[in-house]
Amino acid sequence: MDGKELAEKVLVALAEAKDAEGSVRIKNAHVSGISYMNLGDYGLTFLEELSDQGIKVAVPTSSNPCGMDRELWNEQGVSKDFAEKQARVNAALEAMGVTPTYSCTFPYEGSWSSSLSRGDHVAWAESSAVVFGNSILGIRTNREGGPSALFSAITGMTPNYGMHEDKNREPTLLVRVEPPVPRGPLEWGLLGKKIASIGEKARVPYIDGLGKIATKGELKAISAALATFGPTDLFLAPRLTPEAGAKPVGLDEIVIDGEELEESARRDVELAIKGDLPKAYFLGCPQYGVEDLVYLARLFLNIERIKGEIYVFTSAHALSDPEAREAVASLRAKGVKIFKDTCPVFSPSPKFEKGVLTDSVKSSYYLPQSKGVKPSLEPTVVAFMLANGELEGE
Ligand code: F3S
Repeated sequence: MDGKELAEKVLVALAEAKDAEGSVRIKNAHVSGISYMNLGDYGLTFLEELSDQGIKVAVPTSSNPCGMDRELWNEQGVSKDFAEKQARVNAALEAMGVTPTYSCTFPYEGSWSSSLSRGDHVAWAESSAVVFGNSILGIRTNREGGPSALFSAITGMTPNYGMHEDKNREPTLLVRVEPPVPRGPLEWGLLGKKIASIGEKARVPYIDGLGKIATKGELKAISAALATFGPTDLFLAPRLTPEAGAKPVGLDEIVIDGEELEESARRDVELAIKGDLPKAYFLGCPQYGVEDLVYLARLFLNIERIKGEIYVFTSAHALSDPEAREAVASLRAKGVKIFKDTCPVFSPSPKFEKGVLTDSVKSSYYLPQSKGVKPSLEPTVVAFMLANGELEGE
């Protein structure tokens, strides 16, 4: 059986298992699980076999972060052996026609997103992108696995079930967020975690009380946390998501206190002031976009050289923006380490052996699994700077 037949067979089996109403044509696909750290030699061989057979993707297909910054892998601390294996994975994918985006945010932030319209079907395998896409863009995708997204990319089709069907996009729970409205990626991430922890009932939460606007970073954070901690692939919020509609009636309701979110986000600040926090900070899960990089550069405007270590993970598509490149140049000159194409969860380096702070609730779940390190959650990099005496006397 060749790779195309295998792809068709697997998707038919998936459709049967899910009781799908046939299949739908997809506009694009996004494959994940492509770090050599996840694939190992078995996965690498499988991808090389597919590409040797001349298998090609049938629709535009982007790729999730790989295991290294493709230019700065040495500076990132990745071994030559790993880099060679990762380069072979990338070469096999690219030979199949997969676009080398190496980003978890490309599906909704990259150049293809502007050609997507509400109701379009896609097959994305990055769970944070799935929630962002379904909720904020109004596209339709299930939470694909790496193989099913690749097989959908090869066939151009995906089984029609779950998020592709209207009936599964109706709210299942009303969540009322009491003021204050959450602020910043950490509070929005904690809110997502709290909702997700309710379980199946929170499959499509209708979240009321989030205000009229949110930053891209906040929306990325809640999407990533909902996807990480529960079954949610779509959330509805008035004024923030296109499918929200009027507040539903007759659903179970839960109340989340904005003050509690604020409090749990800020509990480490005292430690920060005493200087007791880890000396490394990690930003960019999901990968940083243009606005995040520019904001960080402004925050560091009056700092000559940072103390401690700050790691930022971003994407090539963000760096295609001149403002982002300017911000990155200024941050690097101050000692901030910035990598693209990858993220620490899927890369052997950095290891964060001495602990790390982050504002990403998603990475607080995955870093213990991938590196055995439990990060401390901090709302802003300002606490880190306080801990390092950066802001003394100001
Ligand atoms: Fe992206 Fe890696 Fe976080 S893929 S969402 S930066 S775990």
